Amino acid sequence: MGKIEFTAKQNEFIRLLKQNKLKRINLLQGSVSAGKTWISLIAWALWVATRPKDHLYMMCGKSLQTLKRNCLLPLQDLIGKKNFTFSVSTKEGKLFGRKIMFEGANDQRSESKIRGITLGGAYCDELTLFPKDYFVMLLSRLRVPGAKLIATTNPDVPTHWLKTEYINNGDLSDDMLNIFFHIDDNTTLPAEYIENLKKEYTGVYYDRFICGDWVVANGAIYKVFSDSPSAYNAADLPHFDYINIGLDFGGNGSQHALCASGITPDMRQLYALKTERIPAADMTPQALYKRVYDFCEDILKRYGKISAVYADSAEQTLIAGLRDVLRPLGIVVKNSRKREINDRIRATTMLMAGGRFKLVAAECNSLVNAFKGAVWNDKIIGKEERLDDGTSDIDTLDAFEYSFERYIPQLIKN
Ligand SMILES: Nc1ncnc2c1ncn2[C@@H]1O[C@H](COP(=O)(O)OP(=O)(O)OP(=O)(O)O)[C@@H](O)[C@H]1O
Ligand SMILES: [Mg+2]
Repeated sequence: MGKIEFTAKQNEFIRLLKQNKLKRINLLQGSVSAGKTWISLIAWALWVATRPKDHLYMMCGKSLQTLKRNCLLPLQDLIGKKNFTFSVSTKEGKLFGRKIMFEGANDQRSESKIRGITLGGAYCDELTLFPKDYFVMLLSRLRVPGAKLIATTNPDVPTHWLKTEYINNGDLSDDMLNIFFHIDDNTTLPAEYIENLKKEYTGVYYDRFICGDWVVANGAIYKVFSDSPSAYNAADLPHFDYINIGLDFGGNGSQHALCASGITPDMRQLYALKTERIPAADMTPQALYKRVYDFCEDILKRYGKISAVYADSAEQTLIAGLRDVLRPLGIVVKNSRKREINDRIRATTMLMAGGRFKLVAAECNSLVNAFKGAVWNDKIIGKEERLDDGTSDIDTLDAFEYSFERYIPQLIKN
């Protein structure tokens, strides 16, 4: 390690490690960018280095890819290739001469893989994203004396299993260390960077990811939009690198929905250009295709290109028919990615809050109304969910999201 400095909060944690005061479970929780992962990796490496060489150690993330990005590469950066090597394909690494195994907690087969083994220690990245069964299994594998687990997480709903069964469990207090990190604790980041980060989160996401509170999501989802819809009107339109169309097929009671959106070359700005709802009742596939064709033709005429149409992947027959219809226009029809809805919502509200989302108001009536009407389902326990009971226009939101979800990683990175 080169010259490194800890924040005051990180020092608190390292002091406990040095005084041998870590417990069986050690949880670092709180806001984003608070310095949890950074110090937890150092603590993990320092601790593993003091432990027997013949024990087995494990590091887990939601998936192997996120583990690599969030932890394995940063850990290698911190302590050097000499001290930590890894291979994601063999799911094994060496940390100060100790064998480390890697697992993705979301892989259905992972739980059965760890079932038989005995672990000397475990590290978990973003623990709230793990299935509870996996975590329970992992804990039961920590069987050697002095075995420990170090985990980091952001907060989630207050009914999350980690909160109710572990953090709030008084019986566990001898077994569990719980350290809270606030974003302002990370004194290594420029103040301006932190100010900008705070602006990107709104509503429940602000409470959770900035304040670090375990709170439920309730009320309006796109409050940042409905508080001042006119602030999102596009004055003039920039050049777009991508123009995509999202299409959600309606069914029982719902309508078909179309949305065209554009992304600027720097991948920073998202513009909703035009939305349309089409009643689904009694509409033949041919009539629907005609409406989609007309919509696409209009976009082509005005914007000169369509990169792709992303259509609801649940309807393969309709998609096949649509491909034939749109081929003469040179338009490809692809399956919607169907990212997790909450990831799409987070991306949208981030772009809104960061002043990076605009819409052509005169053409996007249904989208404006869909944003205004969308609310969280307050009857769901365990995870927040967008209410989808026909009282708001989820179809248009789906179509809007299909149109840009493929680009969410780039849009968010910026
Ligand atoms: N002591 C330090 N010295 C230098 N850089 C640091 C230090 N602590 C944290 N950082 C940097 O601050 C940024 C945020 O830290 P980190 O990733 O640990 O936050 P986190 O709490 O895990 O956030 P999230 O909840 O978003 O995962 C990272 O870029 C990290 O490298
Ligand atoms: Mg982290």
